[in-house]
Amino acid sequence: MAISIYRGNIISSRSWDELDVHERGYVVVEDGIISGVHDELPEEYEKYDICDYGDRLIIPAFSDLHMHAPQYVERGVGMDCLLFEWLNTYTFPQESRFADRNYAGVIYPQVIRDFIRHGSLQVNLFSTIHYEACDLLFRMLIDSGLYAYAGKINMDMNSPEYYVEDTEESIRETERFIKEHIDLCNRVKPIIIPRFAPTCSKKLLKGLGELCRKYDVGIHTHLVESKAEAAWARELFPMCTSDGEIYEMTGLLQGSGPKIFAHVIFPTETEDRIFRQYSAVSVHCPDATTNITAGIMPVTSLHEKGYDIAIGSDVGGGHFFGIYRQISRALQLSKMKEFYEEDYKRAVFANAFYMATAAGGRVFGNIGKIEKGYKFNALVIDNMQDEGFRIPVLEALERFCYIGDDRNIRERFIDGVRIDPDEVYRKLIEK
Ligand code: GUN
Ligand code: FE
Repeated sequence: MAISIYRGNIISSRSWDELDVHERGYVVVEDGIISGVHDELPEEYEKYDICDYGDRLIIPAFSDLHMHAPQYVERGVGMDCLLFEWLNTYTFPQESRFADRNYAGVIYPQVIRDFIRHGSLQVNLFSTIHYEACDLLFRMLIDSGLYAYAGKINMDMNSPEYYVEDTEESIRETERFIKEHIDLCNRVKPIIIPRFAPTCSKKLLKGLGELCRKYDVGIHTHLVESKAEAAWARELFPMCTSDGEIYEMTGLLQGSGPKIFAHVIFPTETEDRIFRQYSAVSVHCPDATTNITAGIMPVTSLHEKGYDIAIGSDVGGGHFFGIYRQISRALQLSKMKEFYEEDYKRAVFANAFYMATAAGGRVFGNIGKIEKGYKFNALVIDNMQDEGFRIPVLEALERFCYIGDDRNIRERFIDGVRIDPDEVYRKLIEK
């Protein structure tokens, strides 16, 4: 058995509002799985070498539960638009370029490199409608070592004529994608991705719903992401009282795979029921909801109602890869919400860290905590100290989330194995 021992300031979420801290503690990893976290090293391990990270922090790797891989080249561009203007001006033209597999071959290795750089080692991705480019992305994710859900997106209406699918073909190609990718790798799995209700016909959604049941796969989409989007969806699906009911009615919640919904800014009681009933995951994307001015997810009230909430960068609606920065942005937005809404109670750091690590990681299995039985998917972070004045380790983590970046991430581990962003990038482009 391969045993590795790491020493440092270990920080991990115990629960929604509790953090576990082991200052200068030890984490013992056996065959990629954490077998113990200790303040004093048990005698049985004394004969092993210790990899000592000194005053640095050892934390779980981040999970990005909502990101659009083809929008990589749009990040930080068109940010003065609102949602529909942004989609039509920037996003649809950009995504349509992925009809060319060679273009995808240039862009996607950069996306994967940047996830690794920024410590997002579990990711859930949107792509485009093009089979070939989606296949390439999926295979690159396998080669990279990341944990991921990915697939082919679907859209058959209210889309520009240069970027839209025929309904039957969209269903056929999605089935082919699932069949050809479902057994390729334990870490990377297909998921069904209807873009959002306004661009998907009922016939398309029902066809996809049948695939969810037949192949037992999950769904990833946008849900009540703005008032305009929710109103449009209800207009198009008058038989449903809410955005969420559209997916329930068409069978898309019937697979045993994860049900992941980005934004969830204005949920109704129907969404409250659906999230609990189907153990769905809502994804808070603070940068994106600011950029496309959708509103602020009511994180603490959703948590009290029993929602699972993770975090996403939503690049390119969001402009920055680092999930650590989404932690600080979530806190900023939560304070603004509390300022403007008397009844709202803001989130605190432990809540946001939990969403970014433990809640997101759970979607991929025993991942997201530095705790016995969890996979050692972890990061080593600079302690963020100044000369002459020291802050406690928890404050160092908070500071990293506010002002740190990928240069402060010193090591990245997946299943206990070190992973280097530039090495992975070279491997992907040479292949
Ligand atoms: N809704 C439909 N498409 C998109 C997209 O590409 N990004 C975001 N943030 N919302 C969407
Ligand atoms: Fe999005």
